[in-house]
Amino acid sequence: MFCIEMIQLLQSVTFSYFGLMKKYDFLIIGSGIAGLTYALKVAEYGTVCIITKASEDESNTKYAQGGVAAVWDFEEDSYKKHIADTLDAGAGLCDEKIVEIVVREGPQRVQEVIEWGAKFDKTKTGSYDLGREGGHSEHRVLHHKDNTGLEIERTLLKQIVKHPNIDMFSHYFAIDIITQHHLGVEVTRRTKNTECYGVYALNVETGEIETLLSLITLIATGGAGHVYRNTTNPIIATGDGVAMVYRAKGKVENMEFYQFHPTALYHPGEYPSYLITEAIRGFGAILRTKDGKEFMHLYDKRKSLAPRDIVARAIDNEMKKRGEDYVLLDCRHLDKKKFIEHFPNIYEKCHSIGIDIMKDMIPVVPAAHYLCGGIRTDDRGRTSIKYLYACGECASTGLHGANRLASNSLLEAMVFSHRAYLDVIKKLRTLTYKHGIPKWNAEGTFNPEEMVLITFTRQEVQDIMSNYVGIVRSNLRLNRAFERLELIYRETEELYQRTVVSPELCELRNLINVGYLIIRSSLVRHESRGLNYNTDYPKKLKVAKNTVL
Ligand code: FAD
Ligand code: SIN
Repeated sequence: MFCIEMIQLLQSVTFSYFGLMKKYDFLIIGSGIAGLTYALKVAEYGTVCIITKASEDESNTKYAQGGVAAVWDFEEDSYKKHIADTLDAGAGLCDEKIVEIVVREGPQRVQEVIEWGAKFDKTKTGSYDLGREGGHSEHRVLHHKDNTGLEIERTLLKQIVKHPNIDMFSHYFAIDIITQHHLGVEVTRRTKNTECYGVYALNVETGEIETLLSLITLIATGGAGHVYRNTTNPIIATGDGVAMVYRAKGKVENMEFYQFHPTALYHPGEYPSYLITEAIRGFGAILRTKDGKEFMHLYDKRKSLAPRDIVARAIDNEMKKRGEDYVLLDCRHLDKKKFIEHFPNIYEKCHSIGIDIMKDMIPVVPAAHYLCGGIRTDDRGRTSIKYLYACGECASTGLHGANRLASNSLLEAMVFSHRAYLDVIKKLRTLTYKHGIPKWNAEGTFNPEEMVLITFTRQEVQDIMSNYVGIVRSNLRLNRAFERLELIYRETEELYQRTVVSPELCELRNLINVGYLIIRSSLVRHESRGLNYNTDYPKKLKVAKNTVL
């Protein structure tokens, strides 16, 4: 056993004048649901390297609360209904073929995670206890109390550590995708055959930048919530994958559709914001203004359970109209015992800050939550760059259109990691490693003494995006944001050219890039659709089109 492991290690790691280089059949950036699910599958066919920029489990996945939407109870529910709800939430921009694929293949993928060991809550009769969230016409959300993501992440990691073909490197930060550009060939957005050979990654512990070569690379880097000031996302969510692909001249689409979750806990000073799951509204909680009045009936007949874009905009409007900082979520009429059974962590969290949910209403505000657009992929997870795949929140598959239906994200990641796996194993044996990749060039750089500059600039980016590119937009605000961000972009690129690379600086560059993509996409969309609401174009156009950059 020891010998086999030594041989594998020697095969995958080489020291040369090119620097430290690792070679794996499959390289995966990210250890959330998308990266880990795909890893477990492809590991049956070759060597696998997963790199992740923080600890192994740190990801948006770990914080998912509500659950996974999948048709389970065929007496009450049907694929047709789940498809219709997804299309309705997506405001006319979903790819119907992709929606059909995800909804129909979803239950098999969920079953797989159950077989790997994930436990979803059951009723007393032994059937799954299906929750309901905004925009769903039926109860179809499988969950593990109010921490479904933690249960899934834990299950997947348990399988990963057992697999002899998988090496996981935590605190490795992917900086850039390696393409022909690094061999001196000009690559532009019009180049048809851009190829990916791996990535340059910073080993955060040693400070060394390593060359990771692969036959196939998967980007599974999640969302970008930290482009805004208030977000439900953990600090890893800085849009690195989207920015890397855009820099490598790959296609990115629908970036204007950043989803704000309507109900993050209003608790000034807490960063990131704590989420109050939509499943609580599915359980009967009601939104009210500070004076205790219901308001959602003024905006949609589904009231507190309308799709997210509608609820978040309604809350934003009520807050602005009244000059108030939050609205309230009323759970006081709900059964305490059942509430604690379903939402023990939320109950505890509220209790810890002095909110007794049976007596007090919970103060909530919208917060940046989910990137609906991202790296453009096809029905097999292929990006516009050869040998490069993308899955999960960083990918734009066509499922979510202009607004994601709640709890469709974990499902999408499971379905597309499987589809990508089926595609890559077919071509694996025909591929070879690229030779002559140079090591990362760090010449002419010096250590950053001005770390504080990076922190300030990150806050500036978040302020610009929150003040001008939030839930309600206008051309004036978007143009102002564009001009401000351009200045910051130039300053940061200068700093990057003369500074030793650090995760903080790379994240700042990536956030600026993502901010730029959101603003540009929003500027070219001359309509209000789903999550992109522009007061200069309050109506939807007749023909729905993707914004491809
Ligand atoms: P993630 O789980 O975010 O994983 C990304 C990984 O990439 C991380 O390991 C990160 O460290 C790594 N990474 C990023 N950049 C780099 C880099 N440069 N180098 C190396 N590694 C990198 N969806 C649902 O369907 N149902 C829910 O109930 C639900 N609840 C949610 C609750 C919260 C609070 C949040 C934040 C999200 C929720 N979502 C939910 C959304 C869902 O959790 C995410 O969309 C999904 O988990 C994304 O999975 P992923 O694998 O694509 O990315
Ligand atoms: C929630 O539990 O409200 C979040 C669900 C999601 O983002 O899909």
